[in-house]
Amino acid sequence: MLLSLLVCATFVIPTLCASAQNWQKRSIYQLVTDRFATTDGSAPSCDTSERRYCNGTWKGIINKLDYIQRMGFDAVWISPIVANLEGPTGDGEAYHGYWTVDHNTLNAHFGSESDLKQLSTALHARGMYLMIDVVVNHMAASSIPPNYTAFEPFDQQSDFHPFCWITDYSNQTNVEQCWLGDQNVPLADMDTEDEDIVNFFYSWIQTLVNSYGADGVRIDTVKHVRKDFWPDFAQASGVFSLGEVLDGDIQYVSQYTQVLDSILDYPAFYPLIRAFTNTTGDLSQLASTVEAEQSAYKHGVFMTGAFLENADNPRFQSFQTDQALVMNAMTWPFVGDGIPILYYGQEQGYTGGNDPANREALWLSGYEENKPLVVHVRTLNAARKAAIKANGQFIDTTLKFLSATKSSLAISKSPMLTLLSNGGSTSTPSWNVPDAGYAPNEELIDVVSCMVINANKEGGVSVQGSKGMPQVILPVSIFSKSFCTTLKGDASTSLSSAQGASSAAGPLRKRTPSWQLLVTLLAALLL
Ligand SMILES: *[C@@H]1O[C@H](CO)[C@@H](O)[C@H](O)[C@H]1NC(C)=O
Ligand SMILES: *[C@@H]1O[C@H](CO)[C@@H](O)[C@H](O)[C@H]1NC(C)=O
Ligand SMILES: *[C@@H]1O[C@H](CO)[C@@H](O)[C@H](O)[C@H]1NC(C)=O
Ligand SMILES: *[C@@H]1O[C@H](CO)[C@@H](O)[C@H](O)[C@H]1NC(C)=O
Repeated sequence: MLLSLLVCATFVIPTLCASAQNWQKRSIYQLVTDRFATTDGSAPSCDTSERRYCNGTWKGIINKLDYIQRMGFDAVWISPIVANLEGPTGDGEAYHGYWTVDHNTLNAHFGSESDLKQLSTALHARGMYLMIDVVVNHMAASSIPPNYTAFEPFDQQSDFHPFCWITDYSNQTNVEQCWLGDQNVPLADMDTEDEDIVNFFYSWIQTLVNSYGADGVRIDTVKHVRKDFWPDFAQASGVFSLGEVLDGDIQYVSQYTQVLDSILDYPAFYPLIRAFTNTTGDLSQLASTVEAEQSAYKHGVFMTGAFLENADNPRFQSFQTDQALVMNAMTWPFVGDGIPILYYGQEQGYTGGNDPANREALWLSGYEENKPLVVHVRTLNAARKAAIKANGQFIDTTLKFLSATKSSLAISKSPMLTLLSNGGSTSTPSWNVPDAGYAPNEELIDVVSCMVINANKEGGVSVQGSKGMPQVILPVSIFSKSFCTTLKGDASTSLSSAQGASSAAGPLRKRTPSWQLLVTLLAALLL
């Protein structure tokens, strides 16, 4: 604690001194800088299959922070920031940022040092956090052996593990010391056993976080570096760490909950996708996975990043476009024990499949704010914030599955009760949840539909869903019907006609919809 306060005090850019506990209350918007927003607000065409830079920038992000904040997000995870392999390769250009060649220079495609500092300052001025994405495991080359002299600051072959492809994921030495990538872009594996290299990275992460006022770090390819590298790395960063351990196995992933603050919840991601991809999915498998995680991880599921989509997996709507199934699946990350993460574009209904198709330019959506999925995200963030505000223990309250079948789940995390189903938009799910824990006859609201319902005499809930939609239930005392309907926005204030491809043309003439004021007010109350 003392250490983190000292580190905070030395930051070049004042941060919000974000603790892990503060991160737990947040919800994170993940974006690919190159694809989120351009500096001048223009909307160039962006063919994802070409895998070229589409010219999104840090300045572009600054100009679209209202869009992110109005959905209720209070943290932004941006793609990696350092200089990458230049020019075309057999795998396209390094627009995603994961192909480091120089740890000490920023990627000029995204802007200048000053731009990145301005982004950090702009986020902090709104009470929002900045999470930067870092890659330690490897550097990117365009040949085997790499042209080592092109790397900064490691320009010797001896700075890297000897070349071998990873071929055996059951052999952890193979996973840690052999190389990722392919013939086009081999990823030269850093010798993270070497003391000089270790010391470089510990000092590098501290400087990087300090220079740009980052409040958290997302760490790439964590399982490809020996575990005991990580605690001191996380400590050196001085901020919250979220690790990518790309594996669905709970026991395997649990080891990494001992060495970093948090990990991305891949073990729940796979059953989540399977549960809602079609009407034959099994929701009880999602429930049993989460229960197993609750006992296997150092902090239960609390210190996990919960997500439905990200830059490395096909978007949910590439599998299934039934909007009831989509909305059920989208609800999950916001109602569980983990920290919700939403990958940019999901709210706009993007459908891209495997990388590179899942890295669409967001400007092509016009950043419309009244689409049903944007409204859904705004509602889910508002519901979670209301629950956090009403129950000081909400973020430490372990969720309970009050019922779990193949086709439905009742999830309790007081004062929130979430009812999910996978029957799709032609189904009429019904729930009878006797032990929901509300007061007798308490007045409740489903924040998704804004329907008011009453608990029964025993505080239980019996409801029927409409068109397969999820229900997220809160007491009316903490989430009023008028707040709920205001959140949904109304057609007369639609931004869609004004924004879009020509949004650079000038200031928009529109009145601020009242939901924006309410969301801002609610956010302010919580800070
Ligand atoms: C991005 O900028 C480069 C350099 O100015 C330009 O050649 C390229 O066409 C731009 N890409 C798009 C999608 O506009
Ligand atoms: C290797 O990289 C250095 C530094 O970027 C460059 O000057 C040199 O031409 C490269 N050599 C080859 C064979 O590409
Ligand atoms: C595991 O992988 C390492 C590195 O590739 C290799 O040297 C070792 O022989 C492998 N061990 C087994 C049991 O296959
Ligand atoms: C439904 O999902 C299951 C489990 O993911 C899968 O095996 C099956 O192929 C899917 N069926 C259809 C029609 O998509």
